[in-house]
Amino acid sequence: MSANPISDDGLTGLVPEPSISHTERGWFYVMASMLGIMLATVILTGFTQMLHPVSSVETVDAKTLHLKGEFVENNLGVSRNTDGSVTVRMVAQQYMFVPQCVKVPIATPVHFRLTSADVTHGFFVGETNTNAMVVPGFVTDVSATFHRAGALKMPCDEYCGFGHHGMAARVDVVPQDVFTGLPPDDRGVCGAE
Ligand code: CUA
Repeated sequence: MSANPISDDGLTGLVPEPSISHTERGWFYVMASMLGIMLATVILTGFTQMLHPVSSVETVDAKTLHLKGEFVENNLGVSRNTDGSVTVRMVAQQYMFVPQCVKVPIATPVHFRLTSADVTHGFFVGETNTNAMVVPGFVTDVSATFHRAGALKMPCDEYCGFGHHGMAARVDVVPQDVFTGLPPDDRGVCGAE
């Protein structure tokens, strides 16, 4: 086997076998390192940014959300945790989030826990990388810390039907003292507009 049928430019000359394997090995290393970088990114962001793969599933019965469990009406809104962080619980449904507006303290870890009562929705909190799908039957758990006070729009970003474009909640990031000044049983619910 002295002649090789593959030429370097497809027209003239024959490329010797060792040169081809050399090139192939080179590209193999390029592809392998790209895969390695992508895998490392997934693992790293999983630990540092709390970005979980879909395998981290928490299920909930979408048919009985309003009757029992974590997402009953009086458990929605903001609750304070013993470690100083807060948890925001919301239900997404065509075509609104319940509650439609929440107050959260600045510079404090905020854990969003959402589920859907009907179809798949999504949410992201404006100007942050807080962005996730909200799927019926599952709990979406995303954490964020806000470093600037102000009102942030929280639209549904997953097409969910004719009213999708009008579906949005709001997150009001308020100073610590304003938040701690709320009555202890306050669910952090504010008026949406
Ligand atoms: Cu809900 Cu789009």
